[in-house]
Amino acid sequence: MKDKILVIGANGQIGTALIPFLEEIYGEGNVIASDINNPVNYTGVFEHLDATKADNLSAVIKKHDITQIYHLAAILSARGEADPVWAWNINMQTSLSVLQAAREHKLNKLFIPSSIAVFGPSSGKEMTQQNACLEPSTVYGVSKVATENWCSYYYHKYGIDVRSLRYPGVVSHQSMPGGGTTDYAVDIFHKAINGEKYTCYLKPDTALPMIYIDDALRATIKLMEAPKKKITVRTSYNLAGLSFTPDGLYQNIKNITSSFEMEYQPDFRQAIADSWPGSIDDSIARNDWEWQPEFDLSRMSRDMFFHLAKHKAFASQP
Ligand SMILES: NC(=O)c1ccc[n+]([C@@H]2O[C@H](COP(=O)([O-])OP(=O)(O)OC[C@H]3O[C@@H](n4cnc5c(N)ncnc54)[C@H](O)[C@@H]3O)[C@@H](O)[C@H]2O)c1
Repeated sequence: MKDKILVIGANGQIGTALIPFLEEIYGEGNVIASDINNPVNYTGVFEHLDATKADNLSAVIKKHDITQIYHLAAILSARGEADPVWAWNINMQTSLSVLQAAREHKLNKLFIPSSIAVFGPSSGKEMTQQNACLEPSTVYGVSKVATENWCSYYYHKYGIDVRSLRYPGVVSHQSMPGGGTTDYAVDIFHKAINGEKYTCYLKPDTALPMIYIDDALRATIKLMEAPKKKITVRTSYNLAGLSFTPDGLYQNIKNITSSFEMEYQPDFRQAIADSWPGSIDDSIARNDWEWQPEFDLSRMSRDMFFHLAKHKAFASQP
């Protein structure tokens, strides 16, 4: 039987890019997009779904004979700090509904991403290890540590094949990011392509682990397609793409568009960034399912410019 895949939180930064990627692999009719908000430009099968509501989730699974879920709905780091209890409730209730639904409907596989936000000041700053101490300083990080442990619990207790990656900050051109601390690395390209000056909310030398969307999608599918016996981490795999600072990215963009200007006005997100690692050791992912990123800073910047210029030309057509 062909897999039928439900993507929850499909309108977000990763979902917008993941849906066509999954459609390419599994066939258009086999990928169902869902979100609490209606999509703007999506023409495939879509279900309006609040994933905190277990009954509604169950009904969608039954209606479409779903066999796998990619659960992307979450409140990210910066938004979460504005209302921590709300963020905790959304992040935990959606994840628990999905885990419970997988058990009830005997789903084949689940993907529930985690984040480098699980790390905190005690995790070690460079090449942070898989089993580093997890004492995050944001409610988002706290909810991701808890979710990782629930994933492991459902695997060991009920045999649910739930897989996870600790995504670094994702850089993508398909949509705008949804309120994380690494959003600057997407916003900056939009300003640069429009010939505008960018004001960065992090200090110039703040190194953070990041990943280009093509690598993030490839890692996701590689993990999900790996034979079950290869999966040795049942909380969430460390994943690395590249690491850079705002100044490093600025200099790189200036190589493409020399007139681009940037200034710095650090805000509350600086403290969040300071609590996170600068780089990640992902050797277990490399060993278990042969993970290897392909995009360095220059290649990422050129690809962002190429795609954003295309979007801009398309948007300005009469
Ligand atoms: N984007 C990144 O840089 C990054 C980094 C690390 C981890 N992640 C993780 O990857 C996943 C996807 O992130 P993203 O950047 O696409 O997030 P996003 O904020 O861009 O999108 C989240 C989507 O979830 C939807 N949503 C919110 N509450 C919902 C609910 N109750 N029911 C259904 N849908 C709901 C939102 O409408 C939104 O479309 C999240 O788990 C996030 O923590 C993302």
